[in-house]
Amino acid sequence: MNPVIMPPPALDQAAMLRELVLDKKDAAARSKITGVRSVSILSGKGGVGKSNLAVNLALAAADQGMRVTLLDADLGLANIDILFGVVPKFNLGHVLRGEKELSDILFQVGPRLTIVPGGSGLRELADIDYQRQAWMIDRLSFLENETDVLILDTSAGLHRSVLAFAMASDLSVLVTTPEPTAIQDSYGVLKSLWRSTEGDANIGLVVNMAQDKSEAETVSYRIISAAEQFLGCKAQYLGCILWDAAIRDSVRKRRPLLLTKERTVSVQCFKDLAGKIFELRPEAIEAPQVVRGISFLRRLISQMTRKKGD
Ligand SMILES: Nc1ncnc2c1ncn2[C@@H]1O[C@H](COP(=O)(O)OP(=O)(O)OP(=O)(O)O)[C@@H](O)[C@H]1O
Ligand SMILES: [Mg+2]
Repeated sequence: MNPVIMPPPALDQAAMLRELVLDKKDAAARSKITGVRSVSILSGKGGVGKSNLAVNLALAAADQGMRVTLLDADLGLANIDILFGVVPKFNLGHVLRGEKELSDILFQVGPRLTIVPGGSGLRELADIDYQRQAWMIDRLSFLENETDVLILDTSAGLHRSVLAFAMASDLSVLVTTPEPTAIQDSYGVLKSLWRSTEGDANIGLVVNMAQDKSEAETVSYRIISAAEQFLGCKAQYLGCILWDAAIRDSVRKRRPLLLTKERTVSVQCFKDLAGKIFELRPEAIEAPQVVRGISFLRRLISQMTRKKGD
């Protein structure tokens, strides 16, 4: 049984939770030392390929030697299990309610790759009392210590919880397609994220379903230059995934592209993105635990318990 961390009486619960949180500047410094450890995948428009990116990025990172945890943080419909063709019975909600142990809900879907079905748990996390949140952090920090990178697949749009996920992550990866509506909506999300974080967000852009690299670069240039000109935001272009019928096929077959024998150009796109995003450096993986602690959950709970105007 893990100990329950009791708050000292003088502090209110939200303030106490925020005490647990690393200062953002520390987080930035740590991220420089160790590279990106937690990544939220976001989009404006739905159906632009977030879940496929999350899944194949996770597989590529695991293949490159990292221990990866993939958190299905889509508060609407969970997709990750469908893409892997698995049927998890339980999710974080069950752990939170004390009905299951964390180990009961984890799904090992490959060497070094574990799925955590979020389900209702992530939504409930914001509403439980301090003691329970602290208990949950304690449980989940075990997972953080066992993993090198955490990837979150979120729902389209920037509602409150997605914003909390993004703010808690080292990097927010915004996915768009070359469609004008997707471009427009992704700019909207970028703007909200930038303003909500008062310019303290680390934003990367991925263009999915591009015909070729130059189309993707044109799309990214439009978004990034508008962001810089109108918001003063320096978003980074991370790369693209080309339109690929093999991705559609892999979804139909419920087997992620990187687990198939397909060797289409998009396979390399996912690998390149994983290399770029996680800046594979041996010292990042070998660094001492204290430096490597993601503390994503602590930051997440701090964001979730932050009241408006805080
Ligand atoms: N590069 C690609 N080429 C062709 N089809 C793709 C590509 N990427 C994704 N798709 C297709 O687009 C559809 C939507 O993908 P996905 O579920 O990953 O999007 P999403 O952004 O997670 O959607 P949602 O917002 O509903 O969660 C899937 O059917 C998938 O096969
Ligand atoms: Mg999805």
